[in-house]
Amino acid sequence: MAVPRNMAPLLLLLIVLCCGNVILPSSASSSDDFLRCLSEKIPPELVYPQSSGSFMSVLSSSVQNPKFLTNATVRPVCIVAASGASHVQDAVRCGRRHGVRLRVRSGGHDYEGLSYRSVRAEVFAVLDLSRFRAVRVHAGDATVWVDSGATLGELYYAIGTVNPGFAFPGGTCSTVGVGGFLSGGGIGLMTRKFGIGADNVLDARIVNADGEILDRAAMGEDLFWAIRGGGGESFGVVVSWRLKLSMVPRTVTVFNIFRAADNSGAAAAMLAKWETLVLEPFLPDLTILVVLQGRTVLFQSLYLGGCSRLTATMRAYFPELGMTPADCHELTWLRAMAFISLGSTDLPVEGILNRTNNLGTYIKSKSDYVRRPIGGAAWDTLFQRHLSSNNAGVLILEPHGGVVGSVVPDTITPYPHRQGVLYNVQYGVFWWGDAEGASASAAIRWLEETYEFMTPLVSSNPREAFANYRDLDIGENSVGAGANGVTTYESGRVWGEKYFMGNFRRLAAVKGKVDPGDYFRNEQSIPPLLQSY
Ligand SMILES: Cc1cc2nc3c(=O)[nH]c(=O)nc-3n(C[C@H](O)[C@H](O)[C@H](O)COP(=O)(O)OP(=O)(O)OC[C@H]3O[C@@H](n4cnc5c(N)ncnc54)[C@H](O)[C@@H]3O)c2cc1C
Ligand SMILES: *[C@@H]1O[C@H](CO)[C@@H](O)[C@H](O)[C@H]1NC(C)=O
Ligand SMILES: *[C@@H]1O[C@H](CO)[C@@H](O)[C@H](O)[C@H]1NC(C)=O
Repeated sequence: MAVPRNMAPLLLLLIVLCCGNVILPSSASSSDDFLRCLSEKIPPELVYPQSSGSFMSVLSSSVQNPKFLTNATVRPVCIVAASGASHVQDAVRCGRRHGVRLRVRSGGHDYEGLSYRSVRAEVFAVLDLSRFRAVRVHAGDATVWVDSGATLGELYYAIGTVNPGFAFPGGTCSTVGVGGFLSGGGIGLMTRKFGIGADNVLDARIVNADGEILDRAAMGEDLFWAIRGGGGESFGVVVSWRLKLSMVPRTVTVFNIFRAADNSGAAAAMLAKWETLVLEPFLPDLTILVVLQGRTVLFQSLYLGGCSRLTATMRAYFPELGMTPADCHELTWLRAMAFISLGSTDLPVEGILNRTNNLGTYIKSKSDYVRRPIGGAAWDTLFQRHLSSNNAGVLILEPHGGVVGSVVPDTITPYPHRQGVLYNVQYGVFWWGDAEGASASAAIRWLEETYEFMTPLVSSNPREAFANYRDLDIGENSVGAGANGVTTYESGRVWGEKYFMGNFRRLAAVKGKVDPGDYFRNEQSIPPLLQSY
């Protein structure tokens, strides 16, 4: 049909005004069309709409924080339980076509629940990868291909049973998902020896916003850089990772030493000594993580060697702890990881494969990085004023230094907390009963007061935080006006420079190239940098 010449500008105006409705139809129809699109491609037993009797059990299957399962939570219109990469591609294509966003979930451990809930009212689906979890070990070249839905425990078990000298520098909790762990960098008890988890990624397969599947060669080095720690959700769905395995001795040594902090001065002196140990450049084989809870201090160690050398090292560097050979457990690395995760050497190592979640405990976390020793006086105050209070939570101190602190530059992967960092601090509070109410407020108040107390003692400008310890208090994205508005760069900078420091801008530039329309987004996804700032 020919349009009269004088009508053309009006028509253009109408198209512009209607555009939003055309691309993002009203939520009910868009989700119906989305579900229809899925049903044409994905077997029905893998798609759980809200009307399904299994919806709530599948939704809660890997949730670690029941805070985001209440009736007030904004829930997905459906869960797609992908069991292969083609299901991921179909979900992305249907989602793009019908204006429904996806929240990707691997292990479900996100502290703010962003892999399965939305803070704002919006129509979205959960793409759950927990059935997509093969681990293929290539002993010949000491590498492994692991699917994102595997847990760290499943990864450890697969590599440790092929060869007890194989290891991977992952985290301490076996139920954490590989997908989220590597997407946020990933730290643990061998970070001092082998770097963060993401430093050991050799290749990956990602489904991008067009539903294409790309390996490292096809995605290019910029995107490959960004997905190794630049935060989950932002760039696409990483379906599998190829990892370099680390070589460890056939016998490693672990200990859990508990010390009472009834004498806060003595406990403070011990921590003041521990802080300086991290700086010892010649001890990458030794990591001593510290957990402060109430009036108890736990020193948890993984040493890549035998008990007698560990005991001699502890005598030389940290006699204050009073460690003796009786504290040692000499184990294979796999058994050591099971001990750390399960808390006992008596349980079968297969316990590390247990994916059952604990839905009884509400949690909230925050994090910091320490670059100057805090010193005995401040530790003493922390014990007396904060840790001994009734509502006290926990502080977990994870040492850096060694390889992560000295050899690799801050830009090798997006994780920037390297040179000069002594350790990460994770603050955690727990409560039971109701998601909100008196116990929740008391726990949160303790968290905020302790975080406030630490302000002058931790890194500043920016006050660094760890992307994997997600904390929405430090900032939340805002989205530009209009139906096609994208996350604004300025809103992302507020939290993004705390997680990524100088690497944030490069992450935003990569996002601008690979997903300029901002299809993959959540409250803390990387915003697309579309023009130069
Ligand atoms: C009990 C516990 C212990 C922990 N211990 C450690 C530790 O020792 N070291 C450490 O570094 N961290 C630790 N964490 C933090 C943990 O690494 C992060 O919460 C991580 O994001 C969890 O990964 P997940 O796959 O289980 O989470 P999910 O909730 O599934 O995902 C987390 C984020 O990543 C996105 N995402 C998930 N999978 C993909 C994918 N395949 N592609 C793209 N984006 C994806 C999600 O959308 C979400 O935004 C711990 C957390 C808990 C709850
Ligand atoms: C949540 O909603 C369900 C279904 O409407 C209802 O049975 C349940 O009691 C509600 N739970 C709470 C805590 O309100
Ligand atoms: C798996 O873990 C859950 C939750 O911690 C626990 O209740 C259950 O007994 C464990 N199962 C096995 C077989 O160890």
